Amino acid sequence: MWPWQLCVGFLWSTVTLLALPEAQEKPFVSTWMEKTVVEFGSSVVVNCSTNCKDIRDGGLETHLKREAAGEGPTWRAFRLVNISRWEPTPWCYFDCGDFEMKPHRVNFTIYRVPELVELDPVPVMEVGKNYTLTCRVSSVAPIRNLSVAFLQGGKRLHLQTFEKHAAREASDVVVTHIVTAQQADRGEEISCHAALDLRPEGQLFGQASLNQSLETVDEFTSSSLQGKSATRPKSIS
Ligand SMILES: *[C@@H]1O[C@H](CO)[C@@H](O)[C@H](O)[C@H]1NC(C)=O
Ligand SMILES: *[C@@H]1O[C@H](CO)[C@@H](O)[C@H](O)[C@H]1NC(C)=O
Ligand SMILES: *[C@@H]1O[C@H](CO)[C@@H](O)[C@H](O)[C@H]1NC(C)=O
Ligand SMILES: *[C@@H]1O[C@H](CO)[C@@H](O)[C@H](O)[C@H]1NC(C)=O
Ligand SMILES: *[C@@H]1O[C@H](CO)[C@@H](O)[C@H](O)[C@H]1NC(C)=O
Ligand SMILES: *[C@@H]1O[C@H](CO)[C@@H](O)[C@H](O)[C@H]1NC(C)=O
Repeated sequence: MWPWQLCVGFLWSTVTLLALPEAQEKPFVSTWMEKTVVEFGSSVVVNCSTNCKDIRDGGLETHLKREAAGEGPTWRAFRLVNISRWEPTPWCYFDCGDFEMKPHRVNFTIYRVPELVELDPVPVMEVGKNYTLTCRVSSVAPIRNLSVAFLQGGKRLHLQTFEKHAAREASDVVVTHIVTAQQADRGEEISCHAALDLRPEGQLFGQASLNQSLETVDEFTSSSLQGKSATRPKSIS
């Protein structure tokens, strides 16, 4: 009985010792943002707060332009205005006297919706030959959340995504796709669609090029044209 009781007693005292420092909550820094997906050039409110009861100093460390947006005994809020960096990494910090307070990184995504989505003019296509479709998407970010699709007669021909694209800044995107012209393509509408999917924190933005109506000439017409051009020089000479 003795060793068992001793063991329980020892465990109990260990638990008590471990629990004591946790009873007094350690000071921490936290952040709250109005939204975590923010359009380039727009503004957002960041609220830095702490459970420290006796703040000596505190604020937001950032290269972005900011304005004070209120403060209380345990918090300070800021409005980041005209956000003009693609990878801003502000930090909330507080000085709580003797306590070491880890600054808290504010994490958010900056986006830009493309202004233009354009499909290069598709020439009159000869049945059986290959043609390259080219779609141009103007300045967009973040590219890893972009997808570009070619649609023909409501059916998707090709979809390109960029999940592996790490750069956060905006850039132009060009997507190409090779098609083999078919007789059935004649009169079909073709277009290019760009989608910037920022869900669930943000929205889904979609934009499409104008439709182009496909024109084809069949093999018979084109080979007879070739035949004529091949024989004509002979008849002249
Ligand atoms: C900032 O956060 C604190 C603590 O959560 C809250 O009491 C305060 O109302 C917030 N202020 C603003 C401007 O959001
Ligand atoms: C926002 O920033 C850009 C680039 O830094 C600048 O050209 C523009 O004038 C600014 N706009 C406002 C409203 O401050
Ligand atoms: C910041 O956000 C990015 C993407 O949303 C994520 O990959 C990264 O781990 C986050 N960093 C921190 C410190 O939360
Ligand atoms: C046309 O493209 C297909 C695949 O996209 C390829 O298999 C074929 O060899 C190409 N034909 C010509 C004439 O280039
Ligand atoms: C483009 O063509 C598709 C398929 O025919 C059609 O559904 C769509 O409404 C057209 N878009 C425009 C802007 O005309
Ligand atoms: C953007 O794409 C990344 C990678 O596919 C994904 O983790 C993230 O949730 C997407 N949305 C935002 C708002 O970043």
